[in-house]
Amino acid sequence: SGAGPGSPDLAGLHVAVSAGGTREYLDPVRFIGNRSSGRQGYALARAAVSRGARVTLVAANVTLADVAGADMVRVESVAELREAMLKSASTADAVVMAAAVSDFRPRATQGTKIKKTAGTDAPSIELERTEDILAELSQTRRKPGQVVVGFAAETGDSTGSVLDYGRSKLAAKGCDLLVVNEVGRDRGFESEENEAVILGSDGSSTEVPYGPKSVLAHAVWDRVVTLVERPAG
Ligand code: CTP
Ligand code: CA
Repeated sequence: SGAGPGSPDLAGLHVAVSAGGTREYLDPVRFIGNRSSGRQGYALARAAVSRGARVTLVAANVTLADVAGADMVRVESVAELREAMLKSASTADAVVMAAAVSDFRPRATQGTKIKKTAGTDAPSIELERTEDILAELSQTRRKPGQVVVGFAAETGDSTGSVLDYGRSKLAAKGCDLLVVNEVGRDRGFESEENEAVILGSDGSSTEVPYGPKSVLAHAVWDRVVTLVERPAG
């Protein structure tokens, strides 16, 4: 289902997409990073441009070429990503958090390089929680009709399946759609392909078989168009 590539069904809409993975610096040369190539977020942005949207692409430490036709915003940390997404969300009709966001940051960042000193123990790093950007976007969204989308990489275990965890996360975050994919088995990260289930807060669930990230991207926008409130005029 859905209009697919080439159809301008997002014309007149502004969408904001985050991509990549955040970095939290310990000192000027070291950081705690979240692994993500940015490919899924870039595929989402490219698909939205092709469907006629005005697109803001907030890229955290991505080395891919810019998406033609998208407004690029470069960020590094969770704080910068949060600021950029909240700013975009003030005008966006849909926001998609495809970035891998650090759950923790060092409590302190040293201004100068941490040195190893002979005869002393290795330092320990004290961490603090970061802001939950997706939960904040969900709570502060303009209602009705601004669509908020999250991504979750999950693994199933003895107490719950991948989809059980996805359903609870969707509810906990308060977003409209959660794109859940199973990790492990060498899937997701650097790959060109992805497989996922798009869960909706309305109870819906759309399976997207293993295939190019562009196909998953279009499947996400197909769901967004059914939920988004078009601006008047
Ligand atoms: N996310 C976010 N801000 C954070 C952490 C996550 O906006 N501080 C977003 C991610 O971009 C993603 C979604 O939340 O769209 C789910 O991320 P995930 O790491 O799976 O969820 P967490 O709530 O961090 O749960 P977990 O403890 O499983 O990591
Ligand atoms: Ca997390």
